Amino acid sequence: MVKFTLNGATLSVDDDPEMPLLWAIRETAGLTGTKFGCGIGECGACTVHIDGAPTRSCQMPVELAAGKAVVTIEGLSGRAAKAVQAAWRQLDVVQCGYCQSGQIMSAVALLSHTPEPSDRDIDTAMNGNLCRCATYNRIRAAIHTAAKMMEG
Ligand code: FES
Ligand code: FES
Repeated sequence: MVKFTLNGATLSVDDDPEMPLLWAIRETAGLTGTKFGCGIGECGACTVHIDGAPTRSCQMPVELAAGKAVVTIEGLSGRAAKAVQAAWRQLDVVQCGYCQSGQIMSAVALLSHTPEPSDRDIDTAMNGNLCRCATYNRIRAAIHTAAKMMEG
């Protein structure tokens, strides 16, 4: 039995401890905002926060989440999250949407520790999040907009 905190509530997973955390989130907890893309750690669609750090949940065995705080797109809260969500709406970032929860998780993690990121900071932090719809320019602009919102 693996126990961890998922969006503030305890989740107990009685399954193969090597099962990817992504399946515990989507199948056991029923939270489908975190997406399955490549399954090999290359696309970032499955990004969640583990103790605040952006993590590819398709690559993490659920046993390694034991005792940790896992946050998904459904559980995001706080100043950086609010600013990112508002900036995403203002700049109409989303196209098909499939990659976007992962993009937002990475953007919030970046702004939580780097409130005034440079283009280089953004490109480095967002490097592992792919978007087939190529919304990269809007994502970068929205992160700058979110950073300005956080100043006010
Ligand atoms: S589904 Fe996890 S990185 Fe692509
Ligand atoms: S918005 Fe379609 S894959 Fe990113």
